[in-house]
Amino acid sequence: MRTTKAVVFDLDGVITDTAKYHYLAWKNMADKLGIQIDESFNEQLKGVSRIDSLKRILAHGNKLDAYSPEEIERLANEKNEEYKVLIEDVTAADLLPGIEAFLQELKAASIKMAIGSASKNAPMILEKLGILDYFEYIVDVNHIVNGKPAPDIFLDAIQGLGVKASEAVGIEDAEAGIEALQKAQISSIGIGVIGDTTLPSTAELNISLLS
Ligand code: BG6
Ligand code: MG
Repeated sequence: MRTTKAVVFDLDGVITDTAKYHYLAWKNMADKLGIQIDESFNEQLKGVSRIDSLKRILAHGNKLDAYSPEEIERLANEKNEEYKVLIEDVTAADLLPGIEAFLQELKAASIKMAIGSASKNAPMILEKLGILDYFEYIVDVNHIVNGKPAPDIFLDAIQGLGVKASEAVGIEDAEAGIEALQKAQISSIGIGVIGDTTLPSTAELNISLLS
């Protein structure tokens, strides 16, 4: 008898490779602000909310105090406008390897599924990918005060699905996300990042990994 009743998926970098577009848009914004960022710095932006990502970039360039909250909001919106252009042509072909088969496997086993993403663009991206209907619950980050690495997004996800932390598994590609799962006491599968179970890619996801 399986104890896992639910799986909570991160979106960017787990279901589809939008992480590269987030990086591209942030890199362009940082260039404009005269701040150098590279892929290694970008690792600490993964899973982090739009505003917090911008604040981290500004702090990295010692420029956090140079911008008012209103200017930060405007710059974050500007980055999002560029990001939305970059993801305009996303389709089902952009699902990461093994994801669709894994979703089908979970559905056939009546395991509940939720999205626990920090992204306000999540519903739109799921729609473009054609997989919206698999998910019984999508965390609305507009109502979440503390983003990852705080546990709030994942706690909201399990509450939305009506399962206990011990009955859920979370899938993440970001250090901030794994930390959030740990704080929520939900066991984790890390994709390219160390979790309770660690996988090199989504292609290895399958139901036998769930206890
Ligand atoms: C996370 C991404 O899923 O969502 C972050 O890993 C991103 O890079 C965050 O900053 C917020 O996304 P959005 O789409 O609301 O700007
Ligand atoms: Mg991610």
